[in-house]
Amino acid sequence: MSIILVIILAFLALSLILPIIFHFRYPELRWNWNSIDTDTINFPDGFIWGTATAAHQVEGNCNNNWSEFEKKTQKDGEPNIKDGQVSGNACEHWQRYIEDIELIKRIGVSHYRFSIEWSKIEPTIGHYDIDAIDHYSNVINHLLQNSITPVVTLHHFSHPIWFEEKGGFSKSENIDYFLRFSKKVFSLYSDRVKNWCTINEPGVFSVQGYFTGMFPPGYKKPQLTVEVLKNLLEAHVQVYHTLKNQKNGEESKIGIVKNINQFEPWRRSSIRDWLFSLSLNHVFNSSTLNFFKTGKFKIRLPGLMWKTYYNERAKDSLDFFGLNYYSHNHLKFSLFKKDFSVLKFHKKDVMTDMPYTIYAEGIYRAIKFVSSLNVPIIITENGVADASDKIRETYIKKYIYAVSKAISEGANVVGYYYWSLMDNFEWAFGYDMKFGLYEVDFNNQERKLRDGSKAFVEIVKKNEK
Ligand code: BGC
Repeated sequence: MSIILVIILAFLALSLILPIIFHFRYPELRWNWNSIDTDTINFPDGFIWGTATAAHQVEGNCNNNWSEFEKKTQKDGEPNIKDGQVSGNACEHWQRYIEDIELIKRIGVSHYRFSIEWSKIEPTIGHYDIDAIDHYSNVINHLLQNSITPVVTLHHFSHPIWFEEKGGFSKSENIDYFLRFSKKVFSLYSDRVKNWCTINEPGVFSVQGYFTGMFPPGYKKPQLTVEVLKNLLEAHVQVYHTLKNQKNGEESKIGIVKNINQFEPWRRSSIRDWLFSLSLNHVFNSSTLNFFKTGKFKIRLPGLMWKTYYNERAKDSLDFFGLNYYSHNHLKFSLFKKDFSVLKFHKKDVMTDMPYTIYAEGIYRAIKFVSSLNVPIIITENGVADASDKIRETYIKKYIYAVSKAISEGANVVGYYYWSLMDNFEWAFGYDMKFGLYEVDFNNQERKLRDGSKAFVEIVKKNEK
């Protein structure tokens, strides 16, 4: 037999055998929801219930990397944001925070996660804005006066234009600017704020900003994507250790927030779909987790993305892991399609308004996956875009059931934050996506609790102890 024939046969054999191995190694969990009572949930004493927003999405009047991006178009002339929308006044949360804190109280939650807009605190390099500093101080005080614990995110996708112009997180030397900002903010508020999220979703920020081009700066540069991801993780490690050594550091809880999104092969018998989805899981999910487990950041996709980086201190840089979870994606590999794949959906699955389905089993899987880090897990975001409000209640009940099940099996989940308090600017989708517990009428800024959200209010009421 010629060597070529042997190679071809070996290749064929592998493409038959590997999918079978992968199928059992990476099962796609599906529960029979007909036999599940989603009301049978149980949460430990002291479990935290909260809700979340991010500055650029709710405050209004931002002048940052996103507001610049919103004005621009892509190469083909299409606007960066759906239908050319801009964030503009958003929910006017900046002016209306007192009213909004009242809304938080009304839901019955005890914690509020929000982000501090770097571009408002440090609009020009090295100069801090006193009004902005006072503003966030007032927000924090008002939350505390109302018995709501503030949870601050230092970077939630947006940053000053000057930072973006310097190359943002694509250059490791720029981490110092973020470190300086973080130290400043911590020194201002850590007497009152004890819960800190450093960076929101480094995977999403790097992939959407540098690989798909859907976020600023709108690049499609695979190798830069990995560079940015590595720098964001490194920034987290530096910020963590620096803040822990500052005044109030020891008693503060500092963690990173990461979205877990499982990439699944559309055809479970196809080696191409498997290799493609496993590669995406490797880049998007495992590389980050491995970094925190071992200190080693390693991405190997020959010809596309390649990086090894080591920081011993990463192993000891999480007081908690903030898990954001929404859904999973099925991908069919195709050489001839944009991004080499097509998103596919099973007919029986229920679509949300975002391009993904309800998949509550996924949050359970994500919790199990993240549990290997052995640090407390906080569900820092979970929620649904549902303009019709038809699936919100089901979504809430199923996902919270899945969280409770993971806890009953030993997972150390200590809190759950619903995304989002109110409808807001959903990045590249603009205002079309309605994630809010409260519906916002953007003509007059009226907020109204959605019927579907009442399921969450009920759960919080029954389970807050
Ligand atoms: C982000 C939020 C976003 C939400 C819903 C998360 O990726 O942190 O800012 O609005 O998902 O898409």
